[in-house]
Amino acid sequence: MGQDVFYITTPIYYPNDVPHIGHAYTSVAADFLARYHRLRGEEVLFLTGTDEHGLNIQRRAEAAGIDPQAWVDEMAPRWKEVWAGLDIAYDDYIRTTEPRHEKAVQRLLTAVHENGRDDIYLGTYEGLYCVSCEAYYTEDELVDGMCPIHGRPVERMVEENYFFRLSAYADRLLEHYETHPKAVQPETRRNEVLSLIRGGLQDFSISRTNFRWGIPLPWDPNHVCYVWFDALTNYITAAGYGTDEERFARVWPADVHLIGKDILRFHAVYWPAMLMAGGVEPPDQVWAHGFLTVGGQKMSKTNATGIHPFELTEHFGVDSYRYYFMREIQFGQDGSFSWESMVDRHNADLANGLGNLASRILAMLGSSFDGVVPEPGAEGVEDDLPALIADVARRYDEHMSELALSQGLAAVWEVVGRANGYLVERQPWNVAKDEARRGELAAILYASAETLRILAILIGPIMPGAAQRLWEQLGIEQPLEAQRLPSAAAWGGLPPGTKTAKGDALFPRLDS
Ligand code: MSP
Repeated sequence: MGQDVFYITTPIYYPNDVPHIGHAYTSVAADFLARYHRLRGEEVLFLTGTDEHGLNIQRRAEAAGIDPQAWVDEMAPRWKEVWAGLDIAYDDYIRTTEPRHEKAVQRLLTAVHENGRDDIYLGTYEGLYCVSCEAYYTEDELVDGMCPIHGRPVERMVEENYFFRLSAYADRLLEHYETHPKAVQPETRRNEVLSLIRGGLQDFSISRTNFRWGIPLPWDPNHVCYVWFDALTNYITAAGYGTDEERFARVWPADVHLIGKDILRFHAVYWPAMLMAGGVEPPDQVWAHGFLTVGGQKMSKTNATGIHPFELTEHFGVDSYRYYFMREIQFGQDGSFSWESMVDRHNADLANGLGNLASRILAMLGSSFDGVVPEPGAEGVEDDLPALIADVARRYDEHMSELALSQGLAAVWEVVGRANGYLVERQPWNVAKDEARRGELAAILYASAETLRILAILIGPIMPGAAQRLWEQLGIEQPLEAQRLPSAAAWGGLPPGTKTAKGDALFPRLDS
């Protein structure tokens, strides 16, 4: 990794329309990871943005009767607004129409062009083009004559283009992936990439002359840069390539590019080869997740199956939204969204699980101790909670480093389940009736409140809003943002005397 910084990216999205929950899926996952690494005390650079050049955008703008720059200027804020509404806390938002990016693209193009190996050459291209993918396909890649991803007609295009000599990089790519077994994950995607490379690589064209909406090639401005060459370069632009070499050395290579499986070939074949050709190290890891599906198909605007994230947050709230997608679907696999499963998760894990746990504990602290956290008192009354929590914190960390996001959350919810079970076993509501058992009651409620404190910290990355509300109800003086793993999850951190206050339910129950 870049020596000092955990650098994580999402794909930059095409702003031809507003986001749907499929796009948000990648961004929520990236935000969950970014927040987790911040919680561990790491310096994080979380990058997202919009991919604003190319024929697709140009046509969309034409259809709207405005120029492409005006179109993307209007759309970029609409993407940012959705990210704000989903608590996506990126550190940098890149737009490929920014000057810093034009500089970086031209710099990389020049570096490749001048590397002395003739890696860029002029040729003629004739092929079948899908404008939605911004990519050429061969006859046999088509499905019933249509684009395999979008199911839309492809167009025959003939152009004089500059080509990138990808074919010369097969051996170096294979060697790279053999010596870096984690560089593409999950394993199925790694195998897919290896067989793509072994199957032979064809040079690809990196310039276009049939439209103007792109970055001009430095040595031949009649050509604009191919949108994928342009787009991929965003990851080094934001790290300072071409504008701030000192920063670039600190940040690059990226720790992980999170992507959907449809854009694996660009990220795991084109991109590392482009970097090698330009004398830049490839990223540490490309991690490709699956699709959100509707009726077995990739959810998309083209199929009219895209759901806007706010249609869901309106009912569930943002924390439940984020939790649902990360918990319900094994990261890496496809998953289908349904209202029923979302309501079930919400009620079971959040309303009845964590929410109920918090409200019971805070209510008992209120009625028995005026809301003030008692001294832990009698030893042994905490039972297995400290040991379980220590074990969960360790497993959560392992899962997060493997991007086993759902398993990470499942581990945390073992604590929720156990803590609810603990209350049932220890029956503090009965203990409270007996003045002679005051010490025992104090110990039970201390252990319970301490469990809540640690839970608030552990859920912060996935449910930042709920974590903060729970933290405020607990009344702990130190701010939640100041907590760091692993030390903050060590048992016994809740100061006796802390003044708690039961507030509104964290997660109101929903009717199906
Ligand atoms: N602009 C390119 C990416 C360039 S990155 C250098 C692009 N944009 S996109 O807007 O079409 O898609 C961006 C991401 O959203 C991709 O990772 C894609 O997989 C993801 N998703 C779009 N629809 C999706 C689902 N239905 N499910 C999960 N992810 C989906 O490609």
